[in-house]
Amino acid sequence: MPDRKKLRSAEWFGTADKNGFMYRSWMKNQGIPDHEFQGKPVIGICNTWSELTPCNSHFRKIAEHVKRGIYEAGGFPVEFPVFSNGESNLRPTAMLTRNLAAMDVEEAIRGNPIDAVVLLAGCDKTTPALLMGAASCDVPAIVVSGGPMLNGKLEGRDIGSGTAVWQLHESLKAGEINLHQFLSAESGMSRSVGTCNTMGTASTMACMAEALGTTLPHNAAIPAVDSRRYVLAHMSGIRIVEMALQDLTLSKILTRQAFENAIRTNAAIGGSTNAVIHLKAIAGRIGVPLELEDWTRIGRGTPTLVDLQPSGRYLMEEFYYAGGLPAVLRRMGEHGLLPHPDAITVNGQTLWDNVREAPNYNAEVIRPLDKPLIADGSIRVLRGNLSPRGAVLKPSAATPELLKHRGRAVVFENLEDYKARIVDENLDVDATCILVMKNCGPKGYPGMAEVGNMGLPPKLLRQGVKDMVRISDARMSGTAYGTVVLHVAPEAAAGGPLAAVRDGDWIELDCEAGRLHLDITDSELADRMATLTPQPARSDGGYQKLYVNHVLQADEGCDLDFLVGCRGSAVPRHSH
Ligand code: FES
Ligand code: MG
Repeated sequence: MPDRKKLRSAEWFGTADKNGFMYRSWMKNQGIPDHEFQGKPVIGICNTWSELTPCNSHFRKIAEHVKRGIYEAGGFPVEFPVFSNGESNLRPTAMLTRNLAAMDVEEAIRGNPIDAVVLLAGCDKTTPALLMGAASCDVPAIVVSGGPMLNGKLEGRDIGSGTAVWQLHESLKAGEINLHQFLSAESGMSRSVGTCNTMGTASTMACMAEALGTTLPHNAAIPAVDSRRYVLAHMSGIRIVEMALQDLTLSKILTRQAFENAIRTNAAIGGSTNAVIHLKAIAGRIGVPLELEDWTRIGRGTPTLVDLQPSGRYLMEEFYYAGGLPAVLRRMGEHGLLPHPDAITVNGQTLWDNVREAPNYNAEVIRPLDKPLIADGSIRVLRGNLSPRGAVLKPSAATPELLKHRGRAVVFENLEDYKARIVDENLDVDATCILVMKNCGPKGYPGMAEVGNMGLPPKLLRQGVKDMVRISDARMSGTAYGTVVLHVAPEAAAGGPLAAVRDGDWIELDCEAGRLHLDITDSELADRMATLTPQPARSDGGYQKLYVNHVLQADEGCDLDFLVGCRGSAVPRHSH
């Protein structure tokens, strides 16, 4: 055992006085023997288990396997719950509480006798929330993801989480399937524990965590129910004890280089636009500068190699069987597409050491460089008078012909307005129009819901229209697709020019040039802005009020302004 004075936990358990007595005595009511308190690294297992977060409902079992590894390596595991924000149930959007969960994590780590922490994350927001909270403490940390669900099944074919819902709903509205066919897909789509099995935000963030170096290799893709997921949990438990002893803190892993690797990786996997916001928020916590333009500078020209839904065909099961993220990283590295192969990861090795011999078993799922799914899969950053602080679009999920488009705006003031009017057979809209929705951003919704991929007007769906340009200050589910401009900043509710768009305006989108332009004169725009009456923020108090008053815009990662930064892990004053 190392000098116990070097461990934070010794400040609780390491003294033979009144305080040490108190800290140990109450813990002993759990049946913990005295020797556990004698200088062993205390490893927190930060658990987002919840039956209301179905994607994380198997986490108590994963935690058991993490504990086995911790005990085996001579550590003392302590499991603790944090706020679990599940994407599927939580209204108005799980994004509203990402920062709340991050606060919970940060305070739980700093205030407790924890030397290092295992972050059990799965559903979309839980991964960034846990990394943000741990980064603000800068303790040694390792992410163990819950893993994706098995492939969904419908009428003998594979269907993907989320993506199938969007597709089936459009088919229903177009009259191609009936309500019975639609509803009978429910149970087949989600037939095992785990996260969405498409390359949605959960899988994307698991890949981001792996590319950042915060997980053991293969963490992102092993299916939730595969026994190798539990082996990985066990090995992560062993490893975190070593990390605690080596003081391998997050700031040594989450470097600028790590974020650059992650940005490239996001393009290669066809990852979710939500990664733009979450990576910025994590970087902000650890003190790494990251700008929206980095997604262009670093990501541009990176081909999408992974043929997964929603951009492509396959699902996470195939991705793992094909070789998972290590196979992608190896392929990237061999072609000079991994900007920093020497970035250090949680196992103490470099990213390149971890993947240099990773096999690829299926070149359809993880494609060769000369046969990419899309030649340039980097997320596009769009600026112009409509988005002075940026907007984003995911080209791999878009229709190539629409990436440069000029169209007449059909404007919805908010989601309710959209829902009420999109079904109107008399709505003045055709396939060349651009659907614009306001007031769905961080302050406006509040929480920046995933409603940016507005469904198309039913009358156009029946004509066979499959895609239209859509623009909003909302986010989009990572499982969704379409030519969708998202994260317009500043948002309408914060007085952004999006609020000034009117029905019949013309809008120009040019993804290649990175331009989003409202075709009115500067003086006309200024006049309109001067007469805007901003929509009052929707909050009745409580956490929502704190959120609305302090949330940063999308280009800044939607963190709360006072949470940005690393506050370290100095041991607080005694509690008694
Ligand atoms: Fe939880 Fe998709 S809803 S991962
Ligand atoms: Mg989502």
